[in-house]
Amino acid sequence: MIGGVFMADKRVISPETADDGEAGIEKSLRPQRLAQYIGQDKVKNELQVYIAAAQKREESLDHVLLYGPPGLGKTTLAMVIANELGVSIRTTSGPAIERPGDLVAILNELHPGDVLFIDEIHRLPKIVEEMLYSAMEDFFVDIVIGQGPTAHPVHFPLPPFTLIGATTRAGLLSAPLRDRFGIVAHMAYYTEKDLTEIVLRSADIFHTAILPAGAHEIARRSRGTPRVANRLLKRIRDFAQVAEQSKIDLPIIHKALKLLQVDSHGLDYIDQKLLRTMIKFYGGGPVGLSTIAANVGEETDTIEEMYEPYLLQIGFLKRTPRGRVVTPQAYAHLGIPFKTKN
Ligand SMILES: Nc1ncnc2c1ncn2[C@@H]1O[C@H](COP(=O)(O)OP(=O)(O)O)[C@@H](O)[C@H]1O
Ligand SMILES: [Mg+2]
Repeated sequence: MIGGVFMADKRVISPETADDGEAGIEKSLRPQRLAQYIGQDKVKNELQVYIAAAQKREESLDHVLLYGPPGLGKTTLAMVIANELGVSIRTTSGPAIERPGDLVAILNELHPGDVLFIDEIHRLPKIVEEMLYSAMEDFFVDIVIGQGPTAHPVHFPLPPFTLIGATTRAGLLSAPLRDRFGIVAHMAYYTEKDLTEIVLRSADIFHTAILPAGAHEIARRSRGTPRVANRLLKRIRDFAQVAEQSKIDLPIIHKALKLLQVDSHGLDYIDQKLLRTMIKFYGGGPVGLSTIAANVGEETDTIEEMYEPYLLQIGFLKRTPRGRVVTPQAYAHLGIPFKTKN
């Protein structure tokens, strides 16, 4: 039963990578150069200048911090930057660097001008983070070699390199770390126009026929997130294939999205549950984040990183000092009459 297969799946609009081989597909869809990187014009234009300037001076590019919700192209952009600079990129993540020794080993392998990409940089252990300060600022680390009476400090010079850090939570970064990034780029949700272009580009790579109106419909339901757009396209393509339809058109998109429980705004059942619970049991708020999380059965962090940002962005939720509030727009979308309080 096709429906069952689709329904049993993990949250289809999750901006996080799924573990079902999606990483490989993402790789094939990743733009390699800045010119192929769609949208984020402000970030792109700035980077273009800094990259050109660094190349003219024959220096390493300033350290770059990319922050914004998951699935918006941070990892992709880090790779694009390395390609534009014509240097190698070494990728790792905050939680993967457990001890200072791990960091030294990574830094030791860099060639002059290389890019070191640290994903989830807000999750670096403190002791590693502190070692990064001198590495970023003056390209050296001081390490202690040996133990007990034979222990002695060693000054370890490094080649000039560019650190690119990515985080979904810039607010969790310590001030000293944040201040060491010369370039700080905020990744914004994509416009429908940019997402339409991304869907058309991905369809082309997949050798899938889709009309611009279809691409736009997928874009509209993708929560401003390329990863979600690509995933919806892939699912809808599967669906068209099973229906023995060679072209993706609007009827098949609507049918598939209905089965996938993605509504006209790209909200799924968890978003709906979140909003409906707040309305039904808390009069639309204000409700604290942890209460919302408990009611929906998700971690507070997950709500804060994955669900809330988009609901805030489209104006369905509002943050107030006393908690989150459901807006009249959300009531209208859900078809629930809005009663003004007081
Ligand atoms: N600007 C873009 N243009 C085209 N595709 C993009 C763009 N940004 C992201 N993507 C696609 O979305 C997917 C997720 O991007 P990724 O860089 O992994 O996001 P993040 O690291 O922010 O979670 C990538 O596989 C890529 O194909
Ligand atoms: Mg990433």
